[in-house]
Amino acid sequence: MFAPDQILKANSPDLLHDLDLTTDELVYLLDLAAQVKESPAAYARALEGRNIAMLFEKPSLRTKLTFELAMKQLGGGSVFIEGPIGVREPLKDVARNLDRWTNGIVARVFRQTTVDDLARWSRVPVINALSDLYHPCQALADMQTVREHFGELRGCKLAFIGDGNNVAQSLMLTSLRLGMDFALGCPQGYLPDPDIVTQAEGLAAVTGAHLAITHDGAEAVAGAHAIYTDVWTSMGQEQEAVERRRAFRDYQVNDALFAQARPDCVFMHCLPAKRDEEVTDSIMEHERSVIFDQAENRLHAQKALLLMMLT
Ligand code: CP
Ligand code: NVA
Repeated sequence: MFAPDQILKANSPDLLHDLDLTTDELVYLLDLAAQVKESPAAYARALEGRNIAMLFEKPSLRTKLTFELAMKQLGGGSVFIEGPIGVREPLKDVARNLDRWTNGIVARVFRQTTVDDLARWSRVPVINALSDLYHPCQALADMQTVREHFGELRGCKLAFIGDGNNVAQSLMLTSLRLGMDFALGCPQGYLPDPDIVTQAEGLAAVTGAHLAITHDGAEAVAGAHAIYTDVWTSMGQEQEAVERRRAFRDYQVNDALFAQARPDCVFMHCLPAKRDEEVTDSIMEHERSVIFDQAENRLHAQKALLLMMLT
């Protein structure tokens, strides 16, 4: 049990991308998330009197509700607003209003620069709740899920099949940082950002975890403990849907691909999923699908994060 005075203060005031969390902080957060999951009542007043503002430029089910519930269950509160940030008034004014009323800002944005700018102007911590480049809260909950399932992350392999964008980039950085091998199987033209790949290679060199990026899905999933996928068309890319369906058609997670991983391999998806595009219904409903454990862990992992960033 972490006593209130053992709650770690974050090194970085913000969580704008995965590298804002040190390895020690990640391990600490996973331990705290497990503790909060086991004994939620022990933390029922931990954030009493504290509030967050949630600014969402895009829709959300899991992220919005789990942040709201996390604050409520920790004794605090939240306010929510959906719409473009920095249009009705400059972003720097929005940030300097919010930091007078709240203890933190959680923002879901189209461009990473929006969340970076909020942090630049705000005196309270800013948490990235999904941008074009990263989804660090998702990666944290996913590490908790893999660790629950396999006991530890080091020595495990996560294979991501699909678009090398936000979710894949956060998973790549976070899994390698924690010593878990990461393989990405994606079509030509949908590779991750080269700068983020360079950071990932640096992490792999330090932790000894293996990074592979390939256009061959079967090669990516060989020996995998977890196969992960995400939608082919992310929010804001709807006009590219037809072209993307064509580009990704050989990258569906289906029974044939799943059978090429380890016999105890689990299926993961951040959700929402588009059945029979990136994944078949049979895999979504498979006995080794852990998608709802991931969704549940969003709540616990974010509670740990809020405890670390707001206390
Ligand atoms: N996985 C995830 O972030 O879900 P939402 O888009 O519903 O928040
Ligand atoms: N890649 C998806 C993730 C949704 C949680 C998107 O950006 O829409």
